[in-house]
Amino acid sequence: MSNQLLHQHVATLVTEDYRTADVFRRYGMDFCCGGKRPLKEVCEKKGVNPDEVVNELEHVMVQPAAGMPRFRDWSPDLLIDYINQNHHTYVRSAIPRMSQWINKVAQRHGHDRPENVEIAKLFNELAEAMLDHLKKEEDEQFPLVSLVLEKNKKGESPDEQERESLKRLHEELEAEHEHAGDTMAKIAQLSNNFTPPEWACPTYQLAYKELSDFEKDLHQHVHLENNLLFPKATQLISN
Ligand SMILES: [Fe+2]
Ligand SMILES: [Fe+2]
Repeated sequence: MSNQLLHQHVATLVTEDYRTADVFRRYGMDFCCGGKRPLKEVCEKKGVNPDEVVNELEHVMVQPAAGMPRFRDWSPDLLIDYINQNHHTYVRSAIPRMSQWINKVAQRHGHDRPENVEIAKLFNELAEAMLDHLKKEEDEQFPLVSLVLEKNKKGESPDEQERESLKRLHEELEAEHEHAGDTMAKIAQLSNNFTPPEWACPTYQLAYKELSDFEKDLHQHVHLENNLLFPKATQLISN
């Protein structure tokens, strides 16, 4: 099994069993935007011992999976509903309170810890881009996927314009995911992996904890779209 795992793409491993995401997260390995690469290559790039990673993956994969959503078996409309209810709702509620805390930390501690000024700048830009991104998915991409799915159920094929629009949207949205992932990776680096200094006040601690949660949520959100929803939608327009 070990050798087989090394040749599989990281994104595929997470698609097959979402519990593996925790292992990749611990090693700082990207499984959502840059996940379409074999595990062996990703380990080499990170300078991590592949046997160690494989052991950990095997350990989580043999545990009983009761209660874990089997996202890979979900239909596109169920995935859309879950993404909307879970991830889009979370992003919209988290951004205003996080912006408040992050900007406060930048104002109060930016003098001694200038990385917080840069973090606030990056987060404010990301927040704006993400709200536009969610709107594009909800107003354009999700309805188009639902339309194509309905046609498919009736045995009808999508027309050329629908195919082209969906392809264009996937390209744009994937590029936006990559940009969001890169921005959060920069914030992780600047914040020493979301670790506040020992003397940090509650707002400082809370801001870093929320940033860490935000990154975790982003990774799952992007994984569900890039590695499950978009390929399933592409399959619908390829028939
Ligand atoms: Fe989304
Ligand atoms: Fe997205």
